[in-house]
Amino acid sequence: MAGIKFSNISFSYGDKKILEDFSLDVEDSQIMCLLGPSGCGKTTLMRCLLGLNKPASGEIYVGERCVFSKEKRINIPPERRGIGVVFQDYAVWPHMTVLENVCYPMKKHKIPKDEMDRKARYALEQVRMTDYAAYLPSQLSGGQQQRVAIARALVSSDEVIVMDEPITNLDAKLREEMLIEIRQIQKNIGTTILYITHDQEASLQLCDKMAIMDSEGRLSQIGTDEDIILRPASRFVFEFIGVSNFFRLSEKSGSWFFNGSSAMKYDGAVPDEYKTQVDLGVRPNDIVFDDSSEIRGRVRRSVFLGSEYNMFIDFNGQEVRVQRSTFDDGAEAVKEGSEVGLRFLNPVFYHAKEA
Ligand SMILES: Nc1ncnc2c1ncn2[C@@H]1O[C@H](COP(=O)(O)OP(=O)(O)OP(=O)(O)O)[C@@H](O)[C@H]1O
Ligand SMILES: [Mg+2]
Repeated sequence: MAGIKFSNISFSYGDKKILEDFSLDVEDSQIMCLLGPSGCGKTTLMRCLLGLNKPASGEIYVGERCVFSKEKRINIPPERRGIGVVFQDYAVWPHMTVLENVCYPMKKHKIPKDEMDRKARYALEQVRMTDYAAYLPSQLSGGQQQRVAIARALVSSDEVIVMDEPITNLDAKLREEMLIEIRQIQKNIGTTILYITHDQEASLQLCDKMAIMDSEGRLSQIGTDEDIILRPASRFVFEFIGVSNFFRLSEKSGSWFFNGSSAMKYDGAVPDEYKTQVDLGVRPNDIVFDDSSEIRGRVRRSVFLGSEYNMFIDFNGQEVRVQRSTFDDGAEAVKEGSEVGLRFLNPVFYHAKEA
């Protein structure tokens, strides 16, 4: 098996810099999710890996094999990089049967027929599509077509597969099933998968590691899902992953007050480094109701979502999101219109952002 290594990759479309000195290691036999806002350069990076974009600098390794190096003048053509691909909008060829679709990359490489059959059968087994070998894509559901695309990627390479938003077009239930399947295939074969998406839910379900890219195409953080959610490296990561509430606090004669229509005092501690203004961030499930708190709000709307209540609180003229697991002891929705006291657990502080 093989990992993927990007070192100091720079790439521009015309004068528009997309990636600059971008480095990332995807460990062998892991699923890494590359997550970032739309337009940040995820597909651009994938195209560099596949040999469809030529970087202006840097190196790319697949395992021990250098597939691109500006300095060493190496630029292996796409079909010889040995990387399987699943794209969102480049699914399967409509005029070929399932089996022909899966065999196509091997035919191009003139793989002997016996080996081709064996590999295709194995790949179809992995995605549970053996019974559909003779079907045309038009006779399959969206999820089945995507499974064929994954089988085709598997025969191109059982070492490294790149998936760029492979399941975005599927409905929620199928997406979940596909994620479980991708995970299972990865476990069975031990493939290294670079999974590109802006869907956080998908990455949480799937990844061993996550890499978060910001809108400038820079890496903000690499870590496990827990690292990223519990220990975000920056405000960008905190805001990008999950739902967050932010409050601006201002200092007045040694105390901190919430900015808003009626200045309420914040009774927790603010780190010393902040002097006059600070932004306090808190997750919806870290806001608890406490009648004795002087931080008061009013419940605008309460939504029951099965496993949790989602409440929207009017606080100082600002809408605040609070979540409560319905499995918590004594958890129940607070009535719309009622006044509540709020307490913030696990607050994070960042320099006040320019409005
Ligand atoms: N062929 C192209 N020519 C010029 N600019 C391009 C081209 N392809 C992409 N871009 C620009 O490069 C930037 C990065 O695009 P890219 O497709 O890599 O984003 P992305 O992170 O994959 O976004 P999404 O999550 O929406 O798929 C965008 O601003 C996009 O407009
Ligand atoms: Mg993209």
